[in-house]
Amino acid sequence: MASNGFWNEEIETMKRSDLEKLQVERLRKTVEIAQHSPYYSEVFKKNNITPESIKSLEDLQRFPFTTKEDLRSHYPFGLVLVPMEKVVRVHSSSGTTGNPTVVAHSQKDLDEWAEQVARCMYMVGCRNTDVFQNTSGYGMFTGGLGYQYGAERLGAVTVPAAAGNSKRQIKFIMDFGTTVIHAIPSYATRLAEVFYEMGIDPKKDTKLRIFCLGAEPHSEEQRQRIEQLFGIKAYNCFGMSEMNGPGVAFECKEQNGLHVWEDYVIPEILDPVTLQPVPEGEVGELVLTTINREAMPLFRYRTRDLTRFIPGDCPCGRTHRRLARFQGRSDDMIIVKGVNIFPIQIERILMGFKELGMNYLITIDTISNNDEMQVEVEIGDNMRIDDYPTLQNLTKEITRQLKDEILLTPKVKLVEKGSIPQAEGKAVRVKDFRKNH
Ligand code: COA
Ligand code: AMP
Ligand code: ZN
Repeated sequence: MASNGFWNEEIETMKRSDLEKLQVERLRKTVEIAQHSPYYSEVFKKNNITPESIKSLEDLQRFPFTTKEDLRSHYPFGLVLVPMEKVVRVHSSSGTTGNPTVVAHSQKDLDEWAEQVARCMYMVGCRNTDVFQNTSGYGMFTGGLGYQYGAERLGAVTVPAAAGNSKRQIKFIMDFGTTVIHAIPSYATRLAEVFYEMGIDPKKDTKLRIFCLGAEPHSEEQRQRIEQLFGIKAYNCFGMSEMNGPGVAFECKEQNGLHVWEDYVIPEILDPVTLQPVPEGEVGELVLTTINREAMPLFRYRTRDLTRFIPGDCPCGRTHRRLARFQGRSDDMIIVKGVNIFPIQIERILMGFKELGMNYLITIDTISNNDEMQVEVEIGDNMRIDDYPTLQNLTKEITRQLKDEILLTPKVKLVEKGSIPQAEGKAVRVKDFRKNH
């Protein structure tokens, strides 16, 4: 299928008017699938939505938004539209204290997702002659299996190394002749550090040539630093579990914006308060509608991610619109080591300990190229700060429960009552000192 440097030339370079026609057709088809489900039949009735009524992209305005809370309140399979016999995989967010968000996929959904990721990788020059190593967590993290199937579809040799153990990552890179690597930006710098500690220069001593970066916010400066450390090109990948995972939007070789694949999603950029479209080119919240998914399509999903459309055509010839580098979120979600965390998850765990007071502070910082999270919490009236054995055991148990909840290991510090400064009004619970977040 690949030709002229495109994985799927016909789709990637489709005339805008044809692409919009395809989007309308696919939206109509998605409504057809959804209309028989108990949930959507109600929603559609209330908003006069029928497949026949979908005539142009304007009709999307009649759909209500879908939020993370909708996914949580339909946990686990309330938004699945196909019989469960057709579902072959679920992905889910972290956490046990509330309902996680779950996305279910049919085999067709997974095939389409693999195509989408292969298209992204091919766009930046990956070929079936490459050796692709993935440092994302596998299991429920979509960066693992998402890239895995995409790279296999491309025909590359895949090395599913998964997260952690940097020395082992480097051994694989050296021994297998890895040429393409996927890592989150903060881990890329950690990996470079371990390379240099081992006396290996990733610029000269490896075959690495392409870096796929994503899953967390990062600046242009951070990208350039990674490119210099490794002596290769690094490309920005945007994705989210609710939209499958990696591959929703990806930078082309121009490195000036991420093409959002509009045959898979209809993107809107809206004012997060008024929920009306912002003028073309201005920053707002990205809202996405899936139009190529059957098991669990989502209409007007509020991503909470802030970005803007880059106006104009891309010199690469692709007609799918470009999103600018992401500028943060409109909610309080934080991403540490590629893991999404809501402060409320931490609060719920802490408040479960009767030995603790009400005040806590989460501090995130980069310490010798590693992102670290510290959770300081005041002890309650029934505890003494000099009772070391009790405090030590308590710290261990809090750390364990937090790790179970947020999937990374925070440094827990118990402090005396009154020692965490209290802000007037709304308490400051999170201090993020990382440069790029
Ligand atoms: N990707 C890959 N490896 C990572 C990483 C990341 N995002 N963040 C940290 N690591 C490495 C560390 O460098 C360390 O290895 P090293 O000491 O050999 O260099 C090892 O993982 C353990 O890290 P540590 O910080 O001690 O552990 P933790 O318990 O706090 O975190 C992780 C555990 C890293 C396993 C967990 O945070 C994780 O799975 N992150 C990956 C999430 C992911 O893949 N996100 C992509 C979603 S699309
Ligand atoms: P997850 O569902 O775990 O894949 O996390 C998705 C979230 O990660 C998104 O909603 C964004 O907030 C963030 N994210 C993913 N890719 C990027 C990127 N390239 N730049 C900035 N943030 C990103
Ligand atoms: Zn382009």
